[in-house]
Amino acid sequence: PLVTTKEMFQKAYAGGYAVGAFNVNNMEIVQGITEAAKEVNAPMILQVSKGARAYANHTYLVKLVEAAVIECPNIPIALHLDHGPDFETCKSCIDGGFTSVMIDASSKPFEENIEITKKVVEYAHDHGVVVEAELGTLAGIEDDVKVAAHAASYTRPEEVEEFVSKTGCDSLAIAIGTSHGAYKFTADQCTRNEKGVLVPPPLRFDVLEEVSKRLPGFPIVLHGSSSVPQDYVKMINENGGKMPDAVGIPEEQLRKAASMSVCKINIDSDLRLAMTGTIRQFFNEHPDKFDPREYLKPARANIKEMVKHKLINVLGCDGKA
Ligand code: G3H
Ligand code: 13P
Ligand code: ZN
Ligand code: NA
Repeated sequence: PLVTTKEMFQKAYAGGYAVGAFNVNNMEIVQGITEAAKEVNAPMILQVSKGARAYANHTYLVKLVEAAVIECPNIPIALHLDHGPDFETCKSCIDGGFTSVMIDASSKPFEENIEITKKVVEYAHDHGVVVEAELGTLAGIEDDVKVAAHAASYTRPEEVEEFVSKTGCDSLAIAIGTSHGAYKFTADQCTRNEKGVLVPPPLRFDVLEEVSKRLPGFPIVLHGSSSVPQDYVKMINENGGKMPDAVGIPEEQLRKAASMSVCKINIDSDLRLAMTGTIRQFFNEHPDKFDPREYLKPARANIKEMVKHKLINVLGCDGKA
């Protein structure tokens, strides 16, 4: 059934795991993710960004998710607005069948963030919808806004209690060193391992711990949590692509965060890499083929395998539906 994240997060918090929040933009992505969740019996959050709504249209995305709900009758599924930029976008999603919205006013001053978030919470709660808010700024790219590494800032733990109590938000995204996109860190922020692959700086678990201490039992969200699998980066680069030094968050660190207060982990870039790598390789091997079903089928299958791996080995939410 289509549900809010309320019970999902309560169980995740108590169980020491996190629910995966995967961005969806078309049918094959929805299918790849939901087939994985169905197979391992995991709850899931399907999330839609402003860009996804601009690309695929609100109604198509809602109907695709409704189809997934019909196909997965035993799996709790939440439909979430990712990075809602303003009240109007949140309202449109609340009115249009979403069960959860994010209002991202994290780039605004603290008081303004509270004010906007509070307004969304009031409308959402009146309609049985839950709200994710954000404090702190991630580096990276989202909806065409690029935040340079030096402009990113960690969440200040001393602000979280006031923010949550004044806004009434249901979950809080925090900045502890994750970053959006496939290039999460610049080479000078990283070291290199024996293979020459970039090793990113570790997440700030001290900040997470301090936030959790101040908000006991409250669900925390991590954005920018793709791991950027080097197998797919290699597949892309070996088949005509050019993604030098793409780097993500190591899986063990996400696993650790999931065992703590983090109840929702956002993944988008890894789905894109799996899809693009698979399609590039297909075209390289079969330059004569032109039926979209022939290349979208293996792309969807690889998304499914990747998501299954994450549900079991990174999020720990398999068997929790
Ligand atoms: O945080 C951003 C998500 O990956 C969505 O990306 O705005 O390109 O749809 P998008
Ligand atoms: P990634 O770019 O790391 O997949 O992050 C996705 C995200 O945070 C969506 O809100
Ligand atoms: Zn995000
Ligand atoms: Na958790």
